[in-house]
Amino acid sequence: MRRLAIVGASGHGKVVADAAEALGWDLIEFYDDAWPELTILRHWPVKGDFSALLENLENYEGVIVAIGDNHTRLSLQQELEDRGSELVTLVHPGACVSPYASLGTGSVILAGAAINIDATLGKACIINTNASVDHDCSLDDGVHVSPGAALAGGVSVGQCSWVGIGASVRQLIAIGADVVVGAGSCVVAPLADGQTYVGMPARPFQRN
Ligand SMILES: CC(C)(COP(=O)(O)OP(=O)(O)OC[C@H]1O[C@@H](n2cnc3c(N)ncnc32)[C@H](O)[C@@H]1OP(=O)(O)O)[C@@H](O)C(=O)NCCC(=O)NCCS
Repeated sequence: MRRLAIVGASGHGKVVADAAEALGWDLIEFYDDAWPELTILRHWPVKGDFSALLENLENYEGVIVAIGDNHTRLSLQQELEDRGSELVTLVHPGACVSPYASLGTGSVILAGAAINIDATLGKACIINTNASVDHDCSLDDGVHVSPGAALAGGVSVGQCSWVGIGASVRQLIAIGADVVVGAGSCVVAPLADGQTYVGMPARPFQRN
């Protein structure tokens, strides 16, 4: 019997549970601070809040954090690691990951995603549906590559950056830490830490 605890009973959590079921986890249970108001997500029970999970870690063969916010996901994963939890990495059976790529603990690779040879991913990354991370890319901890986004070869992405849905990044580009690349953007030049960029080519985002 393989039992998995998922932190975060949201839309992303549901997608991660679906992937875990496809990978043969026998029992999947959620933990979310919306408990006790929230007790079930689709057919999966929500058993308690995050502190309840910390009290029940011995009941699970695996734990994963499925929270979209990159900083929250990474810090909760760190707390679980410090408690000696069995953090797992999930690769949906419909994803394609080179045996010569390396994936950090707690990362999820979702359906249709591709990770090519010599790509390296840090901890707690999300490579979302149909995203691609090409050869020699280097992703730091807590990076999210959204559905359909494409990183060409040799791209680097700093800690907790978010590449939006359908964005594309030219080869060998360095994206800093805490960057947001807006949906559908096309990145052709390096991006500085802590900023949001949008458009084609991607430029610093300025609200009107
Ligand atoms: C860039 C982004 C972070 C800005 O969010 P926001 O601050 O809430 O911005 P708003 O939606 O209020 O839009 C503000 C303006 O920027 C424009 N804008 C927003 N996102 C844009 C984008 N990706 N590209 C170009 N223009 C964009 C809007 O059209 C709007 O223009 P207007 O003032 O002329 O009407 C967001 O739009 C985005 O792209 N997020 C990524 C979403 C994603 O990838 N989701 C996948 C989840 S898995």
